[in-house]
Amino acid sequence: MLITIDDVLTPAELATVKDRLKRSIWAGGEITAGAQAVLSKNNRQLPEDAEHLPALRRIVLGALQRNPLFFTAALPARILPPFFNRYEGEQNYYGNHVDGAMRSLPEGGYLRADVSATLFLSEPEEYEGGVLTIEDMFGSREIKLGAGRMVVYPSSSVHQVTPVTRGRRLACFMFIQSMVRDAGQRRMLFDMDMALLRLRQSQGEIEPVIRLTGVYHNLLRHWAEN
Ligand code: NI
Repeated sequence: MLITIDDVLTPAELATVKDRLKRSIWAGGEITAGAQAVLSKNNRQLPEDAEHLPALRRIVLGALQRNPLFFTAALPARILPPFFNRYEGEQNYYGNHVDGAMRSLPEGGYLRADVSATLFLSEPEEYEGGVLTIEDMFGSREIKLGAGRMVVYPSSSVHQVTPVTRGRRLACFMFIQSMVRDAGQRRMLFDMDMALLRLRQSQGEIEPVIRLTGVYHNLLRHWAEN
């Protein structure tokens, strides 16, 4: 299931993020890639010791925290501090790969990546190519969103970023351990929550809406791991 979320960042946050990225020193993108992914990864990334990285991460995590659609789509238990990447010039693509299942946490231990997310930071007209292509059960989906918008998808899906042939593509990407590890269960919960939201808006808190909301929460209680 792919879910796109509009307006994750405010225009002011986006401007701050882009300004800080402009003043950052980049490293090769292989720093967070696993043994298989590293062979196909050819981009740049902010290194862990980058001056502006803590502030950039605070902005993005704060934006996720206040976003109810992100919460219901990902049902996050833990979020690995977000990364920032750049596709431009010779370092301009990331071939087909699956994101590694286990990600080491800064404080030690591991996070299981259930959900991956890409937050677009460049407008589509700023670059050519650079399409995020994600395979799901219905085939291949091509994603190229406006700056400040995000796509959320299962970490288990094969995906790639096609070569950027002109301009610069900046993005933020992150891995999330979900309270509900099964993508099918997450999908059902998401569909139910969205349908309930629409029902509540059109019908108010009528008795069946209250009952179905109870079923949603009881399913979540049943499936959630923490
Ligand atoms: Ni990936």
